[in-house]
Amino acid sequence: MLAAETKVAGSLSERASDTESARSWKKIMEPVVPFLDAVTQQLMRQARDFDPQIVPYAEHALNNGGKHLRPTLVALAASCFGRPNESHVKAAVIIEMIHLATLVHDDVIDEAEIRRGSPTVAAKWGNEIAVLFGDCLFAQALILASSFPTTDICRAVSQATNTVCSGEILQTQQRRNFPAARRDYFRVMEMKTGELFTLACDLAAFLSDAPPTQRAALREFGAAVGTAYQVYDDCVDLFGTEAEAGKSLGTDLAKGKLTWPVLLAWERATVADRTALEKMIKKWQPENLQAVNTLLAKYETFAPSVREIQRFLDLARQALRGLPESPGRTGLSALADFLAQQTGTLVVQ
Ligand code: IPE
Ligand code: IPE
Ligand code: MG
Ligand code: MG
Repeated sequence: MLAAETKVAGSLSERASDTESARSWKKIMEPVVPFLDAVTQQLMRQARDFDPQIVPYAEHALNNGGKHLRPTLVALAASCFGRPNESHVKAAVIIEMIHLATLVHDDVIDEAEIRRGSPTVAAKWGNEIAVLFGDCLFAQALILASSFPTTDICRAVSQATNTVCSGEILQTQQRRNFPAARRDYFRVMEMKTGELFTLACDLAAFLSDAPPTQRAALREFGAAVGTAYQVYDDCVDLFGTEAEAGKSLGTDLAKGKLTWPVLLAWERATVADRTALEKMIKKWQPENLQAVNTLLAKYETFAPSVREIQRFLDLARQALRGLPESPGRTGLSALADFLAQQTGTLVVQ
C-alpha cells in the first residue's frame, strides 16, 4: 500500500476495507511483478558490488522492502508502448538507488529512527556513515547510468537528482518561515518528489522510443502524481500512524518543515492562534503536538489538503489522455485512483 506496505489506516471517507485496498493494489502490481522481481534482484547485485566493508549498509538499504513506486512507474509507463525490457529494468534500478540515497540523507536531516519498518542507516551506524554511504549510493547509480550507450540517461538522472536535492535545500531554507513556505510549497513538492516520478516516466518513454508528445504526457503524469504523493506523505506525517507507515512520523513539525495542513491553519487562524502556532513551531516541543492538532482540526485543514491531492491526481489523469490505450495507461490510471483511495483512508487524530 502507500502509507504502509500492506495495511491501510482506518478510514475517513471512502471506508475502503483492507481487503478491498489490498485487492486494488494487487491488481496494479500483478502485471509488473516480474519486472519488479528483476529490479529487486539487480538491486541486490548492486549491493554486493560495493566494497566488502560497505556491503552491510548496502544490503540493509537496498534489500529493505520499500514500495518500489518509481520502478512501478517505469514498468507501467513502458507498458504504454509494449513490453518493458532490460534497459527499463536498469533505469528503474538507477532511479530506486537515487531515491534511496535521498532517503538515507533525509533520515539524517530529519533524525528519523525508522525507515521501511527497520532502523535507518543513521540510527544503526551513525550520521557520518549515513552521509557517506548516501554519497556512495548516488555515485553507484551514476556509474550504472553511464553504462547506457547514450549519455542522455546519465544527464537526465543527474539533472533530476540536482532538482530533488535543490527542492530539499529550498525546504530546509524555508523551515519555520510561514510566508516563504506557503508561497513555494507546491513547487518544493514537485522538485523534491515529483521530479523522480517524472524521471521514471520520462526514461521509460525515452527507452521505448515514444513519440515526443506522448513522452511529454508521461512527464506531466509523473510530475502531477509525484506532487500529489508528497502532499499525501505530508498528511501521513500529521494524520497517519507509524505502525502503518513503517517509518518515523512527526518529523516535519519537529524539524520546522511547514506542510500544507499547517500552512492552511496558519493562513486561516485568528491573530492569537497564528501567533501561538508560530511560537510552537519556532521552539518545537513534542508536547506541542496536541495543541497543533487542535488548530489543524479547528481550521478544518484536512479536507482541503485532501482536495489538493485530488487536484493533482486529476491533472495526472488528464495527462493520460495523451497516451495510447494500453495496459500501461490502464495501470497508471489505476495507480492514480489507488492513491486517491488511500488518501481517503487517512485518520484525523
Ligand atoms: C518516501 O517515498 C519519501 C517520499 C518521497 C514521500 P516512498 O513512500 O516511495 O518510500 P519507499 O521507497 O516506499 O520506502
Ligand atoms: C523527503 O521527504 C523526500 C525526499 C525527496 C528525500 P520526507 O521527509 O517527507 O520523506 P519521509 O516522510 O521521511 O519518507
Ligand atoms: Mg523525512
Ligand atoms: Mg514525509
